Amino acid sequence: MLRAPIKDQTVLVTGGAGFIGSHIVDACLTQGAKHVIAVDNLFLGNENNLKDALETGNATFYKDDIEIRTSLDYIFENHDIDVVFNCATKALNYSFLNPENAFSTNVTGALNLLELQRSGKFKTLCHFSTSEVYGSAVYEPMDEAHPKNPLTTYAAGKAAADLAVESYVRMFDLDAFIVRPFNNYGPRQNHKGMLAGIIPITAYRILNDITPEIHGTGDQTRDFIHVFDTINAVMKLYDKMKPAESINISTNNQVSMNNLVTSICNIMSYKGDVLRKPERKSDVECHNACNKKIHGMIDYQLTPFDEGLKSTLDWYKDNI
Ligand SMILES: NC(=O)c1ccc[n+]([C@@H]2O[C@H](COP(=O)([O-])OP(=O)(O)OC[C@H]3O[C@@H](n4cnc5c(N)ncnc54)[C@H](O)[C@@H]3O)[C@@H](O)[C@H]2O)c1
Repeated sequence: MLRAPIKDQTVLVTGGAGFIGSHIVDACLTQGAKHVIAVDNLFLGNENNLKDALETGNATFYKDDIEIRTSLDYIFENHDIDVVFNCATKALNYSFLNPENAFSTNVTGALNLLELQRSGKFKTLCHFSTSEVYGSAVYEPMDEAHPKNPLTTYAAGKAAADLAVESYVRMFDLDAFIVRPFNNYGPRQNHKGMLAGIIPITAYRILNDITPEIHGTGDQTRDFIHVFDTINAVMKLYDKMKPAESINISTNNQVSMNNLVTSICNIMSYKGDVLRKPERKSDVECHNACNKKIHGMIDYQLTPFDEGLKSTLDWYKDNI
């Protein structure tokens, strides 16, 4: 065992009101964390995602910005934090609107945390990277050694943050590691506006009598993993990851946008048209992940995609 269990630790989750971050908050509470603090500027997050956590009395929410160093300072002054899960980010599509800030949120947030860690303010950093850092595949399946060829400033910022984590570990012996999920889906993923992911936006459109859309040929493929599988994997990996190590969290299962939208339409009994929109610039063609490493490290359980998609769509029906 490389580090003390989450039980009885005080944990900070950045982006804690977001999709993955709010599930990390819940998982830490389930594991018996002493206290869990979520910080989120609510750029895309929603305080409702923390409802259950806040009701336990063992969680605190700060609506604040991790790019502002003094905002993190006062949180660390108020709490004796042991572990940080860094989930804060601006959604990939935001890089088409505001490329500079999509990049700098990822980099500045990570650097602020690494500086706090370097000054001894907390022990362990679990940093969230993304499959987007790899860009389109140079070889397949993409393992952790795949070159990083980011195609958006979002991905470039994530890649830069990964390098910052690795270099701070080498220079200052910090306890920080990197988890790299592929495309997550499941309850609480944002369904509003142009920053929404394909599953929630398609569900939202169908539920609101708006025609669903596919960009480009629809042959683009992604590796979709249920968020509960990602969270279970991160919690199991927590005491196994060496400092500076990174790991793919993926399924080995490719789903094309055409097949995905068809499945959503079938499950939701939608019989109308699907609008064809122009290809989005910098859309990664294929994300075929290698998950050999994670299989070798933990008892890795994956939800069958059809099952996960159906329960996710049920959740949107109840929550939109
Ligand atoms: N969802 C996926 O498919 C996926 C895939 C790979 C990697 N990831 C990574 O997982 C992490 C969580 O992603 P997510 O899907 O939950 O996204 P999300 O947008 O739901 O959550 C990110 C949260 O960060 C908050 N935020 C943005 N800027 C902030 C700032 N400056 N200060 C404080 N909070 C800020 C947002 O309001 C949001 O709640 C990210 O690091 C992301 O890159 C996600």
